[in-house]
Amino acid sequence: MPSPDALTDDLSRRFPPGFSWGVATAAFQIEGAAREDGKGESIWDRFCRVPGAIADGSNGDVACDHYHRLDADLDLIAALGVDAYRFSVSWPRVQPLGQGAWNPAGLAFYDRLVDGLLARGIRPHLTLNHWDLPQALQDQGGWAARDTVHRFVDYARFIQRRLGDRLAAITTHNEPWVIAGLGHEKGEFAPGIKHRATAVQVSHHLLLSHGLAVQALRADGARSPLGIVLNLAPAVPATDSEADRAQARINDARGRRWYADPLFLGRYPEEVLAELGPDAPAVEPGDMAAIATPIDYLGVNYYSRAVASADGSFDAARSGLPLTEMGWEVYPQGLTELLLTLHRDYRLPDVYITENGGAFKDSVDGDRVHDPDRVRYLQTHVAALADAVDAGVPVKAYMVWSLMDNFEWSSGYAKRFGIVHVDYATQQRRLKDSAHWYRDFVARCRALRTAEAGA
Ligand code: FCB
Repeated sequence: MPSPDALTDDLSRRFPPGFSWGVATAAFQIEGAAREDGKGESIWDRFCRVPGAIADGSNGDVACDHYHRLDADLDLIAALGVDAYRFSVSWPRVQPLGQGAWNPAGLAFYDRLVDGLLARGIRPHLTLNHWDLPQALQDQGGWAARDTVHRFVDYARFIQRRLGDRLAAITTHNEPWVIAGLGHEKGEFAPGIKHRATAVQVSHHLLLSHGLAVQALRADGARSPLGIVLNLAPAVPATDSEADRAQARINDARGRRWYADPLFLGRYPEEVLAELGPDAPAVEPGDMAAIATPIDYLGVNYYSRAVASADGSFDAARSGLPLTEMGWEVYPQGLTELLLTLHRDYRLPDVYITENGGAFKDSVDGDRVHDPDRVRYLQTHVAALADAVDAGVPVKAYMVWSLMDNFEWSSGYAKRFGIVHVDYATQQRRLKDSAHWYRDFVARCRALRTAEAGA
């Protein structure tokens, strides 16, 4: 058996020079300081107050207290040796009401964040919308209102003017499917609405605001690549039956193609429009062309596969695959399958894996934190990514979700995705074994490139 070190070495050889390795977070999940320095209320601040909305009754008021620990956290990122960091801007922190006045203290925080990354040689990947819409905009209809599209474009332009000279990438939205589906159809995420037609209109407005923002940022002289992040999973039929295969096809159309087809083909999938009937979105002339504005990269968040069974009988607990603490199947080859499907269906721009990781039980042992399941998860998924790179998919970056344990939305703090452990009582950060593995792996990739360049 080759040693784990030899395996890591082999893996590092499979990525081209310039491939970027990073870690990811999102504002609401780590910042805390929910009512400080002029920050406005977000829909997640409000949603956390709804009894029963968050599994452990928690909220984002303090989270990882990142807002007050910025410099130490930047040092932590640097200690991992990564060259990229994906973070999001809290819109209500920089523009409390989502329109009108800007908040200097909030803007100063992101200035310090971006400058601190650059000073440490880390490329800043900024996401404009990782779900924390200003509550004031929600009070005027939120993403269901077409006016929010224009508010978002104004916000995007302002952020680019302020920070755009120092960014490595700007993402418009993180996972529009989640905002629409979990936020507006199932009601499990903020703003907690349960109405299909609303959710469908929200998805259209998210896509439209993405396209218009990309156009506006380009017109303003964008200096960094522009893209969007989708959560995607290969749709796999539970059995070989025709019914399950048909179910997988329609699930794929609702989940992946509803977002990717408009972005790359300029149209919604016909079969989904047909089943939506009167719930289909109101689309104005020019909308689809705006949505299909070419992007510089597609961000892909990959966690697991999506099994389809026509009678709903599939049970992940009995599939035989290991499960994460979220109950998600560990299925690394799904990352390869997904990327090959995207490569087949669309003329892809660069692809960044903007999130990948898992919630697992950690065992804290003095200064060490053991998380063998997460180490294995990362190794096998990075290997699956190498298979996609070998097959010609233009993947240029990979980011682990997440830098550190954080507020996992409706699961609260109970589910831990970090490669760095957070003790919420003391806010102490400790590198888990997975962080050590990732740091060594990234260092090997770099050493190899340096050796090649010198040869
Ligand atoms: C994704 C989110 C991210 C995180 C992971 C586990 O859907 O983008 O914020 O919660 O899931």
